[in-house]
Amino acid sequence: MVIPVAGRSDSVRIGNLHCRGESLLTERMLMDQTSLKNALQWNERYAAQSVEQLTELLRIPSVSAQSSHNADTRRAAEYVLNQLKAAGLKAELFETPGHPIVYGEWLGAPGAPTVMIYGHYDVQPPDPLDQWETPPFEPTVRNGHIFARGATDDKGQMYTHIRSVTAWLKTAGQLPVNVKFVIEGEEEVGSNHLEIFLRDHRDRCRNDIAVVSDTSQYGPGLPAITYGLRGIVACEIKLTGPRQDLHSGIFGGSIANPANALARIVAELHCESGRVQIPSFYDDVKDLTTEERAEWAQLPFNQQQFLAGIGAGDVWGEAGYTTLERRWARPTCDINGMLSGYTGEGPKTIIPSWAMAKITCRLVPSQDANKIVASLRTFVEARVRPGLQLEFKEYHGCPATVCDLGSPYMAAAKRAIEKGFGKAPVLIREGGSIPVVGTFKEILGVDTLLLGWGQNTDNLHSPNERFSLEDYQRGIRASTCLWYELAAK
Ligand code: BES
Ligand code: MN
Ligand code: MN
Repeated sequence: MVIPVAGRSDSVRIGNLHCRGESLLTERMLMDQTSLKNALQWNERYAAQSVEQLTELLRIPSVSAQSSHNADTRRAAEYVLNQLKAAGLKAELFETPGHPIVYGEWLGAPGAPTVMIYGHYDVQPPDPLDQWETPPFEPTVRNGHIFARGATDDKGQMYTHIRSVTAWLKTAGQLPVNVKFVIEGEEEVGSNHLEIFLRDHRDRCRNDIAVVSDTSQYGPGLPAITYGLRGIVACEIKLTGPRQDLHSGIFGGSIANPANALARIVAELHCESGRVQIPSFYDDVKDLTTEERAEWAQLPFNQQQFLAGIGAGDVWGEAGYTTLERRWARPTCDINGMLSGYTGEGPKTIIPSWAMAKITCRLVPSQDANKIVASLRTFVEARVRPGLQLEFKEYHGCPATVCDLGSPYMAAAKRAIEKGFGKAPVLIREGGSIPVVGTFKEILGVDTLLLGWGQNTDNLHSPNERFSLEDYQRGIRASTCLWYELAAK
């Protein structure tokens, strides 16, 4: 006898089963199917509540980079903690020298896979404030989107998993898998204390597969699974010259101008065809395979639409690579900000006392973050003009990651997304970084399923960040199905 299982292309053969363990497993799957339906219905019934709860979380300005917001950041952690407890999880806060980590678990499915769900409750600074149509921490719904800092990155996306777990526990009273939540408050500043937490609590954090919703769909109506991320190193350089700003007529030409000197260094980072000029920068870069390039060439990509989405006039980058290749598989070196001298209204003739630049390099598989930052430091040190002092600060770094495409977990995630979004996901890589993915692999030996519900055009890290309320509900649905599919894998 063959019983088709909803949403699966294959089926379960009851008649051929000899082993009692297997038949028990099958019974459980059939039971879980009914439970899944009930959980999905619960989500629909309480959709309004899911928006209210997200709105409350979005009201909290948990800006991890700014210590003036430390109390708010803690409040966001406590909000998440309480929601996990309300869902029926055993949950607690773990203190770190930085922001607290929320940990919660439900382990009532012995024998089933254990899933680690990671997300972050911290957000980027909302600046520039004057460009927000409504204030960043007063969530507002317009055109089917909720607007607020953190709407998509990552409060909204992360919250879909809290809702789905709540739905299962409120209806069936159980989940088809074991879950362990790790929701941190330092992702936007490099996750510097998370690694220590995972090392210290390695046994408690053991799992079979990690799930993270902190990336994007490939485009509107085109869900994706992200199988690779770039890594990053972040640093800051400051050149200091005279004790204070000086008259540029009296002293100009006789001492090194820190702003001129910094501009020269920054200009030398790239050649005209877009290649980074730091020695040995490309030494360990793994080239894209012909197959991967061919697959990416099959993805729908409309350059006009891409440019319109970000309001840019044209593309530019390393010669010899397509836009997707440049974004997903080539390393970069970018200035994130520069500051020096007088930038107010009208002219002012000075030699600035100092000049600084914030720099990040995006890394690709097999580049080593420590090696890259050391090369960058050497590159800058060799170019410091006489009389100037260099201060070189390292902020954080993490390697690029690529995960296994052939795992049964990957197949389960595909089925869950297809059910939640009504469309099969495409496989993509992304240019952004999520430090924990490499740490999970290194410390716990597990791959991460990067299941993004947002859009790259949702203005993350920009003014007017938003999250589509439809994508929010689809994400909740896909997540609800995911626990079922991971158990059925
Ligand atoms: N959620 C983003 C990463 C992301 C967004 C990846 C969209 C792919 C698509 C994450 O919060 C982020 O912004 N990460 C930082 C890295 C961190 C070390 C500061 C980044 O990529 O700049
Ligand atoms: Mn994020
Ligand atoms: Mn972010």
